[in-house]
This record gives sequence, structure tokens and C-alpha cells, in this order.
Amino acid sequence: GGEAHVTDYDFSFEGPFGTYDQFQLQRGLQVYTEVCSACHGLKYVPYRTLGDEGGPGLPEEQVRAYAAQFEVFDQSLLEGEGDYRPAKPTDHFNENNGAGAPDLSMMAKARAGFHGPVGSGLNQLFKGMGGPEYIATLLASYEDPPSCAPEDFDGYYNSAFAAGGYPDECKDEDGHHKYPGSWIAMSQPLYGDDVTYEDGTPATIEQTSQDVAAFLMWTAEPKLAARKQAGFTGVVMLSVLAALLYLTNKRIWAPHK
Ligand code: HEM
Repeated sequence: GGEAHVTDYDFSFEGPFGTYDQFQLQRGLQVYTEVCSACHGLKYVPYRTLGDEGGPGLPEEQVRAYAAQFEVFDQSLLEGEGDYRPAKPTDHFNENNGAGAPDLSMMAKARAGFHGPVGSGLNQLFKGMGGPEYIATLLASYEDPPSCAPEDFDGYYNSAFAAGGYPDECKDEDGHHKYPGSWIAMSQPLYGDDVTYEDGTPATIEQTSQDVAAFLMWTAEPKLAARKQAGFTGVVMLSVLAALLYLTNKRIWAPHK
């Protein structure tokens, strides 16, 4: 792989008290449904979680209606022969490997946006892992391939994708890549105005790619708010305990001073 630049977007769920923006998750769900699901699946995500508080928070009848748009194969139908039926909230999103595209359920946690400097990982300490930043940047980083590349080189040039093929013609004498990123098998999925948002938010590439990245962060980390809350409670309790222990210690040793 080569160097690739990832933009440090400000997401609502960052920081110790950050939470998901319910409406952004709903917009991201729309992008996923109308664009990404043509090739990708979300096989680990149950439809019912679309109703979870702290997540997209869809009302129950909307969760039911959303699921019912899709079909699942149910082995228990037709006396064990199995048949397709509309999905229920307890079913999972479909898996989809048709185009050779990876499942996106955990993708926001499987990729890092920030590394270095020089392998130290310090950027992750200050900016976070950067999974959603990586996804948002990837979707907005399709560019014309540099002119050094043969015209029939396999894939699409993306300046944020480091793991793909790279033509020898674009390497220098030492084998270093002259241009960031590499060639990816996924064609550019978002061009702007690919969806029409009900809340009137303009569907620019930047907006749609950040919305779907936020949605994919939620699929990978649905309990983020609860986890942060538990962590905060823990820190407060330990601080109180530390203060009490300090005072107790003082008192115990006071007669010997
Ligand atoms: C790979 C996201 C739409 C086909 C990926 C990856 C992500 C992603 C995060 C992994 C990149 C990596 O390995 O670091 C999305 C999103 C989409 C979308 C959010 C909707 C906005 C599509 C569509 C297709 C597609 C519509 C098919 C036409 C692929 C393929 C790969 C891939 C084939 C593997 C690329 C490779 O390893 O070279 N996608 N995708 N994707 N996607 Fe998509």
C-alpha cells in the first residue's frame, strides 16, 4: 500500500460525550439502502435495531415497513423446503457478495484513518481511529488517474485507498508510489444528488459520504452512547473512591505523625 490522505471530519459522535445524530443516521440509512446495498450487505445488523434509542430511532411501524421491503429465505416454510417471505424486524439485513464487495457491518471498525507519524500511532491518540473518516474520505476521493497509468489498468483510481493495485509506470526508481492511494475495484458510488433527502439536506458528495459513514459507524458500534455513559459513571465513581481512600489514609496515620 501507499500513502493516502484521510480528512479529519468532525462527527457528532466524537469525544467523551459525543452521540450519534439520529437524523444523520436516517440519512445514512437512505444512502446505504438506495446506493450501497446494490453491492454490499450488512449481514450482522438486525432490522429491529433501526428502532433503538441512540441509533436511527425509527418508530416501530417504520422499522416493520422498512424490513418488509426486503425478502429473506425462510427454511421453515413449505414444510421444510423453504421459501422467500418479506423480512421482519427480527431478521438481519441481507448479505450481498454478488459484486465481490465486502460486508459493511463492521467496516468502520475494521479500517483506520489515522496512523503515524512514522508508525508511532500518535495520530490515533489525538484524532481517534478514523474508521468513519476513512470511509467518508474514500467515497469522495475518486479522481482521474494520473497520466503515467496505462489506460487499461484494472480498477478505478482513488487517492484514499491504499490497499489496491498500482501500476509500475507510476512508481519511481526506488519503487515508491508517485501518487497517493491506489486502484480500487469499486466504481465511484456517489456523485452528489444520488438520493433526495426528506429533511431537505442538500445531497452533495461530502454530505452523503459523511452520512453513510456515520451510519456505518453506528452499525459497527451501536452501543457507543451506552459505553461512553458507563465509562463516565466509572470514572466518577473511581474519583470519589480515590478521594475517600485518601482521606481515610490520612486519618489512619494521623496519630503516628
Ligand atoms: C469496497 C463502501 C457502494 C463495490 C468498499 C469498501 C467500503 C465501501 C468502505 C472497503 C474499502 C477498503 O477495503 O478499505 C461503500 C459505500 C457505498 C458503496 C458506503 C455506497 C455509498 C458500492 C457499490 C458497489 C461497490 C454500488 C458495486 C457497484 C465494492 C467493491 C469493493 C468495495 C467491489 C472491493 C474493492 C477492492 O477491494 O478493490 N466499499 N461502497 N460498492 N465496494 Fe463499495
